[in-house]
Amino acid sequence: VYNIRPPLPAVGGNEGVAEVVEAGAQVSDLQKGDWVLPAAPGFGTWRTLAVAPAASFIRVRSDIPAEYAATVSVNPCTAYRMLRDFVALKPGDVIMQNGSNSAVGVAVIQLARRMRVRTINIIRDRPDLSYVLSRLTSWGADLVFTEDEIRGPKAREALAKLPKPVLGLNCVGGTSAAEVARLLADGAQLITYGGMSRKPVTVPTGTLIFNDIVVRGFWMSRWIATHSRAERSAMLDDLLEMIHNGELEANIETVPFARFSDALLRSKQGYRTHKVVLKFE
Ligand SMILES: NC(=O)c1ccc[n+]([C@@H]2O[C@H](COP(=O)([O-])OP(=O)(O)OC[C@H]3O[C@@H](n4cnc5c(N)ncnc54)[C@H](OP(=O)(O)O)[C@@H]3O)[C@@H](O)[C@H]2O)c1
Repeated sequence: VYNIRPPLPAVGGNEGVAEVVEAGAQVSDLQKGDWVLPAAPGFGTWRTLAVAPAASFIRVRSDIPAEYAATVSVNPCTAYRMLRDFVALKPGDVIMQNGSNSAVGVAVIQLARRMRVRTINIIRDRPDLSYVLSRLTSWGADLVFTEDEIRGPKAREALAKLPKPVLGLNCVGGTSAAEVARLLADGAQLITYGGMSRKPVTVPTGTLIFNDIVVRGFWMSRWIATHSRAERSAMLDDLLEMIHNGELEANIETVPFARFSDALLRSKQGYRTHKVVLKFE
């Protein structure tokens, strides 16, 4: 279902970080030892070596953990854009999201906290719920409910104490999107960026008619294609600075390429606690 499908055979891998081992004689802006990210989606990062024009890469700082550099360009950037490009958020505003323990979701929580924007978060019920709750709360989540709890009295009481959310972020689709939509403020925007349930986005009719909800989508690859390299570098620098300062964390597990099949199996499992990152050497 993904919108980018390279002609086969192809090297997999949309994102990652690489170290420059050699620069061509006419390359002036990259040198041996620099860390680089692919400039365009679909580079094919599951490899030990690549030869490409210097313009295919964006140099990034190398004083942060490699697994953070490897995973900054899609999920944290998506969170960054969605908090800036749709609603002019101000301190004290409230936003709401589902899939809140996803890599995008945890970045949303931490970036919102820096903006002094409060977050209402929905996650799936799961065996290690208390661990996930404590992680999200430590990153600044204001309220966290399971998909069942969000309909109940506990959530109703807590939500009544907050202004209604002006922005909703939908990673899941199906009825989970409906739960976000029905709790939004009049005129709020509901942004769909993922479809993890593989179900169509359901939006209650009344939220469109009576509450004037605006339903839109976001795709990082489209943003990259329609914005300058300088704009992208500025965003990456901002996020990497936060990572360097310990203001933006993620749960990441690095698996060596020798355990490739183990990594694939783990990444397919639901209720993961960590993002699985492959290390090629
Ligand atoms: N539009 C864009 O530009 C853009 C950018 C980045 C990511 N995305 C999309 O955003 C989504 C999240 O990406 P990610 O890398 O942040 O994800 P991730 O870290 O792998 O997390 C996946 C999330 O989806 C939840 N989930 C999985 N299956 C589900 C189901 N059947 N019903 C409800 N929730 C389910 C997981 O919950 P559990 O922990 O309970 O399993 C978890 O919260 C993906 O669909 C991805 O393609 C889109």
